[in-house]
Parts: sequence; structure tokens; C-alpha cells
Amino acid sequence: MTKIVAISGSLRSGSFNTALVNAAVSLFPDNIDKGSIEGIPLYNADDEKSDGIPAGVTRLKDQIAAADGLLIFTPEYNNSIPGVLKNAMDWLSRPPGDIPKVFHGRPVALAGATPGGWGTVLAQDAWLGVLRALKTRPWNQGRLTVSKAHTLFDDDGKISDPDTEDRLKQYLAGFIEFCESAG
Ligand code: FNR
Repeated sequence: MTKIVAISGSLRSGSFNTALVNAAVSLFPDNIDKGSIEGIPLYNADDEKSDGIPAGVTRLKDQIAAADGLLIFTPEYNNSIPGVLKNAMDWLSRPPGDIPKVFHGRPVALAGATPGGWGTVLAQDAWLGVLRALKTRPWNQGRLTVSKAHTLFDDDGKISDPDTEDRLKQYLAGFIEFCESAG
């Protein structure tokens, strides 16, 4: 069974990107598991030297390493990558000797939601250099940009717009198929 880890790059309780992770898990419960960047501290090489890798980082690294693919729902901040998610990715790349098992050749899909009009397209593109540095295998066949997100979810964070749910479903089905063929 193909297994994908989905993470949200937002810590906000009402996050639209976390709502998409939850929707993805509900749509494909056998294939998609939720990962989390909550509790990951700011990267500091001194702390790494004295205390090692934080437990939450090791947990997420192991989860990704055991999966067939990584699905990232990224917010867009100032037309680029949000700091908390970049910080988490930087921790996930430590120590460098673990990068191959966590990232090399790993299928990765990027998607994102914003109340704005451009659907996180700039953030998604900004991630590509990071994914290349980590020698992942980005999936380029699908594209999921969710604009005007504040109009597409109900108060419980469930998708209320059928078109958005349909687009998410198709996107996920495509990535699952890619992971299956890559694995
Ligand atoms: C934003 N936001 C934003 N949105 C966007 O589409 N393009 C952008 O460049 C930015 N820039 C930006 C900078 C900063 C510092 C903040 C705090 C916010 C708005 C952003 O998309 C919005 O807060 C989303 O709701 C964040 O995602 P979550 O938390 O809903 O997942």
C-alpha cells in the first residue's frame, strides 16, 4: 500500500493549509498520514551539538523515511517560503548523513492555500530549489493552488466548495499514482 506523509507549513489553529492536510487524510485514509512540524524549535547549531536532534524532528524524519512520498501544503509569506516550514525542513536535513534516507529520490508534491488570489504559486516555486538541494524527486504533473481560501472552508475547517474538493481529490490521486510507480 502506497504511503504518503502530508505536512502543513502553518502552526495556526485555523490554518487553511492544515485544513487541506486533514481533507487529504479523509479522502485517502489508506494512503495519506498526517505529519506535523509542531513543537520543532528554531534551528541552532549549538543546541544540535549539545542536545542532538529534537524528538519531534526524529519522529518526522522516520515517518518520511518510511513513506513512499512527501506532500507539502505550504502557506506563502511575502511571495516565498514561510519561515516555520523552512526551519522544519532545515532540521529534517540534520545530520547530513541522514539526508539520503529521508530525502534522496523521494517523491515530493507541493500544494498550498491562501486567502489571496495567486494560490501560493510563488511559495511553491520557491520550494523547488530546496527540494533540488535535498535531491528529492518533485512531482511536476499536478498543480494545486487554492486561492480565496477563506471562502472555501466551513467553520470546522472542512472544505465546503465541491470544486476545490474535486481538484484536491484529482491532485492526490495523481500523486499517489506517481508514488506507486516510483516505488
Ligand atoms: C501572508 N499572506 C500572504 N498570502 C499570499 O498569498 N501571498 C503572500 O505573499 C503573503 N504574505 C504573507 C506574509 C505574512 C508575514 C503573513 C503572516 C501572511 C497571507 C497568508 O496566505 C495567510 O495568512 C494564510 O492564511 C496562511 O496560511 P494558513 O495559516 O491559513 O495555512
